[in-house]
Amino acid sequence: MTETTAHAPVSAEQATREQELTDRVVASFEDAPDARLKELMQALTRHLHAFIREVRLTEAEWEKAIAFLTAAGHITDDRRQEFILLSDVLGASMQTIAVNNPAAGNATEATVFGPFFVETAPEIPNGGDIAGGASGQPAWVEGTVTGTHGNPIPNARIEVWEADEDGFYDVQYDDARVAGRAHLYSDQKGNYAFWGLTPAPYPIPHDGPVGEMLAATNRSPVRASHLHFMVTASGYRTLVTHIFVEGDPQLDIGDSVFGVKDSLIKPFDTQRVGIPTPDGRDLGEQQWARTRFDIVLAPAN
Ligand code: BEZ
Ligand code: FE
Repeated sequence: MTETTAHAPVSAEQATREQELTDRVVASFEDAPDARLKELMQALTRHLHAFIREVRLTEAEWEKAIAFLTAAGHITDDRRQEFILLSDVLGASMQTIAVNNPAAGNATEATVFGPFFVETAPEIPNGGDIAGGASGQPAWVEGTVTGTHGNPIPNARIEVWEADEDGFYDVQYDDARVAGRAHLYSDQKGNYAFWGLTPAPYPIPHDGPVGEMLAATNRSPVRASHLHFMVTASGYRTLVTHIFVEGDPQLDIGDSVFGVKDSLIKPFDTQRVGIPTPDGRDLGEQQWARTRFDIVLAPAN
């Protein structure tokens, strides 16, 4: 059921008072020496005041908002960043990515970074395994790294990371395991391949104020199953993206941080037991999957 809240129209005198306040606050930034900071603060003021006036924010609601932000601050530390999570579930992270990664020919689309990247992930050889003991169905991932003219990009650094089949990244465990993450380099023809895990859906951290907000608004914290990539090569725009699993029911339900782009949904084809693996690895009675992700980097600005 859709409900709309109608507010009594405000009198002309009231509207003038409210507008005069907005104008005074906007003017207070007029002498900011940094022109960009002035633009940001003045636009923020205009939009914030417009929001307060549009919804006729009550004082109790204002207090609740302050309590929410205070709780977000209290739960934030060097391992947990509730404000980024808030930005993510409001689609603000994806909107910032959209603004900063304009379409460039057939360049691969970008998506959210997420909080689980680790800079010191081990290097593996091309064709190596990122699992490091993480549980899940082995998945052979292969593809090329090229520029938008189809030129192969050798030596591109490919960082990959993902959750295990229980939906946890290594850094979410209390031990010091390093699992489900690695980096490798494309070869001289721009080809790369590695063994990962078929991604599983998992919830974003939802035991804090952002989780409470999602529950109160009847929204799921679950992310569509994905495998993270960050690809860097000299002369090209760094690409932060994921691939998603075709057929994952969470794609229809919705990704809690709005990260899905159709171009990033890939089939992870399950292979029957006994089908030889591309690199001759013996997986015994274990099923495995394979997928292809051809990465196209945009030129650096
Ligand atoms: C993730 O993909 O790991 C993630 C992204 C945004 C918020 C939380 C988790
Ligand atoms: Fe993730």
